[in-house]
Amino acid sequence: MAKDSLSVKDNRTNQTYEIPIEHGTIKAMDLRGIKQDDNDFGLMSYDPAYKNTASTKSTITYIDGDRGILEYRGYPIGQLAEKSTFIEVAYLLLFGSLPTPGEYLTWSNEITYHTFLHENLKTLIQAFRYDAHPMGMFISSVSALSTFYPEARNVDDPVVRLHQIRRLIAKVPTIAAFSYRHNRGLPYVYPDNDLSYTGNFLNMMFKMSDAKYNPDPILERALDVLFILHADHEQNCSTSTMRNIGSAKADPYSALAGAAAALYGPLHGGANEAVLRMLSEINDLKNVPEYIDRVKAGEFRLMGFGHRVYKNFDPRAEIIKRVADQVFEVTRHNPLLDIALELERIALEDDYFVQRKLYPNVDFYSGLIYQALGLPVDMFPVLFAIGRTVGWLAQWQELLDDSEQAIARPRQIFLGEDRRDVPDKR
Ligand code: CMC
Repeated sequence: MAKDSLSVKDNRTNQTYEIPIEHGTIKAMDLRGIKQDDNDFGLMSYDPAYKNTASTKSTITYIDGDRGILEYRGYPIGQLAEKSTFIEVAYLLLFGSLPTPGEYLTWSNEITYHTFLHENLKTLIQAFRYDAHPMGMFISSVSALSTFYPEARNVDDPVVRLHQIRRLIAKVPTIAAFSYRHNRGLPYVYPDNDLSYTGNFLNMMFKMSDAKYNPDPILERALDVLFILHADHEQNCSTSTMRNIGSAKADPYSALAGAAAALYGPLHGGANEAVLRMLSEINDLKNVPEYIDRVKAGEFRLMGFGHRVYKNFDPRAEIIKRVADQVFEVTRHNPLLDIALELERIALEDDYFVQRKLYPNVDFYSGLIYQALGLPVDMFPVLFAIGRTVGWLAQWQELLDDSEQAIARPRQIFLGEDRRDVPDKR
């Protein structure tokens, strides 16, 4: 008998089965052999919301939720946030190792070269209503990119694939910035390829009449770190969406638009926007205790708290808090920060939150930093999407190279009506 195995006795038939265990997992398909008789379909596992189902093997991102560990390709997130740039981290996530200086130069040149959008895409963005949510514009524009690059459908060709990866990483900041300028009724600013990836994004967002936009280095670095922190988070909702759509061999623009749509949800990337709205609604320090009571009474959730995976602390939240301090030294004091600190203080002492292991997550402070950088609340999920684009693409690439993968297609337990006939007269 194999040592790494599970003995399962089916009490319906008194039969015992040996199911191999590999990497702390059993293969769900091995359950299919457990049957009452030959006509039986076989056992399935039921796992709504995939709370205990590994959908892939991956070598990209490692998370240990209980110990608050997050690593990209083995490198701790804290070290990457301290020593790397976002473009370097993008290379790491996509290719598996940190770039040499030469590789870094080539890679960042390649990304810079693709930052411009086709003028017709600009026309598409211009067609949106003045008050369109930038995330809606972002999702539509990314999806529209597939019509400009029809060769992208050839997802099995690694050269074509890499070309679309470069284009997407380069163009998402431009789409994001154009969506913002559209919202404000401001002329769009074209990329300045002399600036860094993040510096150029700030340029496209904020340049007015100046001949040359010079980003504040502290703010530029803060945003770069936020992009690093958001770059990947293994099989979360939007990444699983990217993989699901990708498994049907859709082109990466369509798949990434779908992933961004999932990110838009308030329980996922929309949380930082929800945090800011929540802090504005609380409005005053004196209202914090009552707000906490209402959360405990189940009226609503404390946004920016809790995580499906991190149950002790979110390592990204700690880094973000440090970045927030640096940013607030440059920008003026934000009174919402005081409310956030007070919410955190009370929640971390309160039994309700302690027992449920609810801690501030990455989004609790990221919104405050974005706001301090002068970025409007509507743009928050878009900023998350810029950073996460890299993770989505790395995971998509891994999926396409994985021979064990196929088109994603879960099963269901059908509990509806038995077959019945439509009556002749109704
Ligand atoms: N405020 C108050 N109670 C909460 C919260 C919260 N933020 N989160 C979970 N709970 C309670 C929940 O009501 C439940 O209580 P009970 O056992 O009495 O029914 C218990 O904690 C477990 O909740 P759950 O829904 O089973 O936990 P989950 O792991 O499925 O949910 C979550 C994770 C992130 C969806 C959830 O914590 C949440 O809704 N948080 C607020 C939204 C948020 O900040 N999302 C950003 C996540 S980080 C960014 C990202 O990676 O997308």
